[in-house]
Formats: sequence, structure tokens, C-alpha cells
Amino acid sequence: MDNINAQNRDIKSFPNRNIKKSSKLDNVLYDVRGPVVEEAMRMENEGIKVLKLNIGNPAPFGFEAPEEVILDMRTQIRNGQGYSDSKGLFSARKAIMQYAQLKNIPDVTVNDIYTGNGVSELINLCMQALLDSGDEILIPSPDYPLWTATATLAGGKAVHYLCDESSDWYPDIDDIRKKITDKTKAIVIINPNNPTGALYSKDLLMQIADIARGYGLIIFSDEIYDRLVMDGEEHISIASLAPDVFCVTFSGLSKSHMIAGFRIGWMILSGNKSAAKDYIDGINMLSNMRLCSNVPAQSIVQTALGGYQSVKNYIIPGGRIYEQRECICNALSGIPGISYVKPKAAFYVFPKIDTKKYRINNDEQFALDFLRKKRILIVHGGGFNWQQPDHFRIVYLPRKEILESSMNQLADFLSGYSQF
Ligand SMILES: Cc1ncc(COP(=O)(O)O)c(C=O)c1O
Repeated sequence: MDNINAQNRDIKSFPNRNIKKSSKLDNVLYDVRGPVVEEAMRMENEGIKVLKLNIGNPAPFGFEAPEEVILDMRTQIRNGQGYSDSKGLFSARKAIMQYAQLKNIPDVTVNDIYTGNGVSELINLCMQALLDSGDEILIPSPDYPLWTATATLAGGKAVHYLCDESSDWYPDIDDIRKKITDKTKAIVIINPNNPTGALYSKDLLMQIADIARGYGLIIFSDEIYDRLVMDGEEHISIASLAPDVFCVTFSGLSKSHMIAGFRIGWMILSGNKSAAKDYIDGINMLSNMRLCSNVPAQSIVQTALGGYQSVKNYIIPGGRIYEQRECICNALSGIPGISYVKPKAAFYVFPKIDTKKYRINNDEQFALDFLRKKRILIVHGGGFNWQQPDHFRIVYLPRKEILESSMNQLADFLSGYSQF
């Protein structure tokens, strides 16, 4: 009893402490879900309806998971109650291995495949296992900002190389070369690209592979949109062109199977694995520490990747994603002072605003003002580590009528807009 009283006294004698976030987060930016999104949530809490053109999440826009995927999960759910092997179920990894073979990625065994709670978890894991303080990693600008955020959180330095709008948003090879130092450990490419919708050519990928080979860099290739390519073009995995370079290739089912909420992604290790043995040991340790990825979600990978691919119907003329791309591009073409590169893949477009015409010097403010005035949520270019205040990203997942009317709203908003 005395002891208990003593404990209580001790607890009471602690002052009220401010609970602070870790200083590790001080340099981490993740503005795709930053203040503008918070304002949108505040508006929604007040009962205001907001059109969300900010997240690449197909389900809320009426895209449904393929029926056989749902059936498969229903049938197998009872088998998914326990942890799986930390890398994932054999059946899932075998299917991903065969997928790697179809993409001509050489020398991949089941052992080289890791499933994840989305690609997101695996990106974080790879950065944590790789980067020490001061290590540099080349990341595109604009980027999918999770790459920059996780590299920074891991203690590394994200060095941004330029993607060139005037060259179909292709990475600027000279800029990549210029930014390599003796601290550079890896290069990240996002192909097909978020936020630009670019799809990289074989020639460009060979040039990037040559750089990685020459400087001994790891290639991280984020290919989550590889099955969402339009206009009859073919997606090429850079790992297929670099059998001698250590590559980590990421993909998953969030986008191609419209099941972002199931949280299922994977990564494939290929190329010079013996040179990366120590790093792979680190990856294995972190993979074990998270126990495993969602097992019911893993159980559908084999069904999802094999056979009929319903996503193909969305990306051909007459299909929703294809037609919505045409629609958003036409609508943007009609707005004075807006230009864009037509996306070839995924479901994003990254238009440029004439900032002189509209007197804009802060792209986040622009997104915030547009949200407040028109109740439409977009992401400003800065959210993708784009340094100029002259871009924004639109997710063109909503149906055509909604896209058309939202672009009319944008034109109307811009016609009376000025920041200074
Ligand atoms: C380029 C890119 N990589 C990774 C992800 C994360 O996907 P997942 O749902 O598999 O975590 C996204 C999601 O938008 C993305 O656009």
C-alpha cells in the first residue's frame, strides 16, 4: 500500500509536459496531405461538399475491384488469419516472380520478392535500410513526395534532379550527371510518372542505366502505374535493361486493380545482388521486424496478376480513364494561360499556369484560394518538390461531366485571380 501511495505521489509530482514530435520530422515535408488538405477537411466537417482531385484513389470515383478478386478474397479469408512468411505468401511471390519474367527482368527467384502493405511501406523500408546521415539519393523533381520524405526521415539527403517539361517531362540526363557526388548511393525513377503521367522510352532508360552502372548506383524504379499505359505504348522495366546493376522494382495492385485500400504492393530485387548482400541483409531484417504484409490482400495477387486484366478496358478508346484523359486535356486547352504535356499513363496531369498573367507567386496559396472559392481540391506543384510556383496536379479519376464542370470553375476562378 505504501508503495502504491509513493507511486501516485511521484506521478502527481510530474509537471504537465508538452508532447512534442520527434525532431527527426523537422525536415520532412509531406505537403500533398498538408495545410490545403486540412482546410478541405475543415470545410467538410462544416458540411461543405468538396470535390477531391487530389488523391489517386480510384474507388471513391466508382472504379470497382474486379469481381474475381473479391471472390478470391472471400474464399481465402479464413486462410489469412495468421502471419505469413515475412516476405509474403509463396503463391503471391511466385505470381510476382512470373510477372517479373514477363517484364524481362532477369534472374529473379521467389526469394527476391517482398510483398508490402502497399508500395509505400516498401519505399520506407528500403530508405531506412540504405541511408546513413549525409548519404545522398537522386530523386526526380517533380516527384511522388513519399520518396523525398522517407529518404529524409531515414537521415539521407534527397538531391532532386530535373524532369524537363519541354522534353515530355523526361529526366534531364545532364542534370543527373551534375548532381552525382561521392556520397550518392542510388537513383530513383518513377515510370510511369506521378505527377506528370510521363512514360519513359527505352533509349532514356538505357542512358539512366548507364549512369547507374558507371557510378555504382542502385536503381529504385517505382512502377506502380505500369499497367495503366495508353495509346498502345509499352512499359519497359529499367531492370530488364540493366541485368548487371542492382535494381529494386516496385509495383502493386492499388491502381491497376482499383484496390488501394487493400494495401498490397511488392518489390523485386534483381541484377548484381552479390554486390548488395549487406544491404539485402538490412532489408531482410526490417522485413522481419514488420512481421509481414496484410495476408488476405496477398492471397489475391495470383488471381489478380494472372489471366484477364480488366484494367485494359479502362485505358483504351471508350474506356473511362482514356476518355477522362481526353476530356481533361480538352478542357485545359480551353483555359487561357494554362499549358500541359499530355499524359501517356496513370491518371494525373501536371499543368503549368502562366504566373505572370495571373500574378501568382505562391502555388500553395493558389490551391487554398481555389479550394475556398470553388470547393475543389487540387495539389500545388510544391507538394511534389517542384521548386517554381507555376504547376498543380489534377487527378482525372472523376467522370467526364464532373471534370468538365470543375475545369469551367477553374477558368472562372482564374479570370478574376491575382495574388499581387
Ligand atoms: C508513384 C507512386 N508510388 C507509390 C504509391 C503508393 O502506392 P501504394 O498504394 O501501393 O502504397 C503511389 C500512390 O499514389 C504513387 O503514386
